[in-house]
Order: sequence, then structure tokens, then C-alpha cells
Amino acid sequence: MAERRVLLVIGGGIAAYKCLELIRRLKERGIAVRCVLTRAAKELVSPLTVAALAGEKVYDALFSLTDEAEMGHIRLAREADLVLVAPATADLLAKMANGLADDLASTLLLATDRPVLVAPAMNPVMWAHPATRRNLARLVADGIGVIGPAEGDMACGETGPGRLVEPSELLEAVLARLEPGARPLSALRALVTSGPTREPIDPVRFLANRSSGRQGHAIAKALADAGAEVTLVSGPVATPDPPGVRTVHVETAREMLEACLAALPVEVAICAAAVADWRPESAPGEKIKKEPGAPPPVLRLVENPDILATLARHPTARPRLVVGFAAETGDLEAKARTKRAKKGCDWILANDVSEGTGVFGGARNRILLIAGEGPAEAWPELAKEEVARRLVERIVTALGRRSP
Ligand code: C5P
Repeated sequence: MAERRVLLVIGGGIAAYKCLELIRRLKERGIAVRCVLTRAAKELVSPLTVAALAGEKVYDALFSLTDEAEMGHIRLAREADLVLVAPATADLLAKMANGLADDLASTLLLATDRPVLVAPAMNPVMWAHPATRRNLARLVADGIGVIGPAEGDMACGETGPGRLVEPSELLEAVLARLEPGARPLSALRALVTSGPTREPIDPVRFLANRSSGRQGHAIAKALADAGAEVTLVSGPVATPDPPGVRTVHVETAREMLEACLAALPVEVAICAAAVADWRPESAPGEKIKKEPGAPPPVLRLVENPDILATLARHPTARPRLVVGFAAETGDLEAKARTKRAKKGCDWILANDVSEGTGVFGGARNRILLIAGEGPAEAWPELAKEEVARRLVERIVTALGRRSP
């Protein structure tokens, strides 16, 4: 097999040190790594260390006569199977989104015709800034893959989304894209719902629930890792958009349904969202005022559409496999079986969300899979990412998509 090659653009974030480990791991897999450092990256990692680990010359200047003589920047941009930008700083993302080309890194990113993956890393407030959101949306629309960021403590002392994902995850993302044969759900269209919905009471208040979106997002990512083309329809969550997934952000159940129907046709639909069963009958356009002496307002609720049942009973575009969740407190299996019949879905993943289980918003989950009339399948307690991977394995088998 021809040697596979990654062009690694190292941006000027504190997390740049993680790239050293990544280079080593890629080399271990026999993948050649050519590195480009931005001016800021050179302040954070030594070009000498990068060159030594990569076993190749490091490039950092656009107007270098020696570099241009050896290898023009256009060739540098095109001689790779994949371009990875890590850490992708807010500045680099902004340049990419706007097509700026004022240094070697940004010029290469504009000149390349290869697939590009970015792994953002920045302060959580910078990550949440509307300018970064806009730039990221632009990049995703341009077909650029996004990995992470992860959530946690930051070097700046703050906490939140903005950490560069770990080298192992970067490695996995690179391998998944370089080895398409290892992707059993290649080109399968999938739809996932995730997170809570928000049902407005007035312009400032809403009804919602404690769903974090972690499970649904993990499923979307696992499907994408297996090669599926995933649309994730998510209510408002703090969990970042998964890499390689088209994420549609919605607020209400009705918006979620509309986005799901717009994503059809799909082969697989997985409803992991905690959709509000009811919404206030009407929400005035103005904030409800607290008038002295007036009684508290009474909320009249009406039923929301059932997205899972709608998809499972779709007259013309029913997905081949429709999967729902059943979050219950007690008498899990019986309630889940009833739910499966009521909703008309193929599989139900039941979980106990009683107080103390920590499932809602937590990192782990214990699943009972009901895939038909036969016995239920009890999975041990697993990280939500592992639940997602198991589910994807089951889907691969059910659809007869075994990897070659
Ligand atoms: O809320 P309930 O227990 O009925 O949810 C079970 C399943 O139905 C979940 O998979 C959930 O995502 C889905 N659901 C839905 N639309 C609703 C209510 C629930 O898709 N309005």
C-alpha cells in the first residue's frame, strides 16, 4: 500500500504539546507526518523537537526561498492524504472561515484540495463567542471536519469546552479517515435526536428538563466514526457538536420534528432526545408581568408531537431501523416493552433514571436492549461513549454491514 501522509498544521495554542505525542503515534502506524508551524506555535513547541519526531523538515515561513526552492507551498498543500489542524486556535479558524492567507499555514489551508480536519482548542468564552460559532458553522458548511473540543479544566484556569482532544482521539479520527475500509457504515444515512427541548412560556421563560445530550451526541459520533452520514438534531445542550456530524440546533419539540422530517430519508433513526411531552398552549409575545395582587398565572399545557412515533409510522419514508430510548423509574422491562409497541419502533434502549442512578446528565449508563419479542439484553454499566459503540455494533450486524 502507498505510504499515507498527513500534513499537520500546528497552531499557537498551549495544547500544541499534545501534537508531539500525536506525531509519534502516527509514525508508529507507518503514517508520514509533515508539519507546518504558525509563528505562535513556534513560541510553544520547538521546531527542532517537531522535526526530530516527524523525521522531516518543518515548514514555517511563506516567503522562504529555501523552502520554495525545495517544495513550493502549493505542493506542500496537496501532497497529503489528509490535512489536520491541531490545535486550531480561534484565530486560525477565523482565517480559514474567511479565506485569509497571510502566512504559510493559512495559505496552505486555502490552497489545499485535500480533506481537512480541525481540532479546535481555546478558552471556553472564546469558543462560545458568536464570532467563533459563525466561523465554525462556515467551516462545517465548507465540508471541513471538526474534532472536539473536549470539556474540562483549561490552562488559563477556567473550565468548559475548549480543550484540545487527547492525542488518542486525534489518532482515531485520522485513522478513520485514512482507512475507509474499516468503516462499516460507510455512506449510510442516519438521524439522531439528542438533548432536551425548551417549550416557551413567554419570551424569557420556558419548560425544559435535565437531559445533557451526552448519550445522543455520543451515538451520533459513534455512527459518524463508523462512516455514516449523520444528522444530529439537538435541543439546547452544553455538549459540543460532535466531529464529522451535521448538527441542527433546535429549541422546541415542534422544531425538532420539523428538522427530523427534513433530514429524511435515512436508513437509521435513533431518538435519544428527552422531548417535552407537553408545551404551554400559548406563549404571549411579551414577558408575563408579576402584577401586585394578581394571582399567579395558570399554565395550560397541550401535547407535543411524538417524534419517535412519527418517524416509526411514517407512511412513505419510514427508516429501516427506528430506535428509541425509554427512561423509566422502576419496572423497566415491562414499561419498555409497552413503549416499543406503542411507538412502533424496532428497538428500545431502556435505562433506569431513578434518583441516585446519575444517568441524567451523568457520564455512564446501564442499558436494557429490547430488540424484539425475544429476551431483553442487559448490558453492564458503561460509559455513554461505550454504550454508543455497542449500539453501532448492533446496527452494523442488524443491517448486515459487516466490515470487510
Ligand atoms: O418520553 P418517552 O418516555 O415517551 O420517550 C421515549 C422515546 O420517545 C425516546 O426515544 C424519545 O426520544 C422519544 N420521544 C420523541 N418525541 C416525544 C417524546 C418522546 O421522539 N414527543
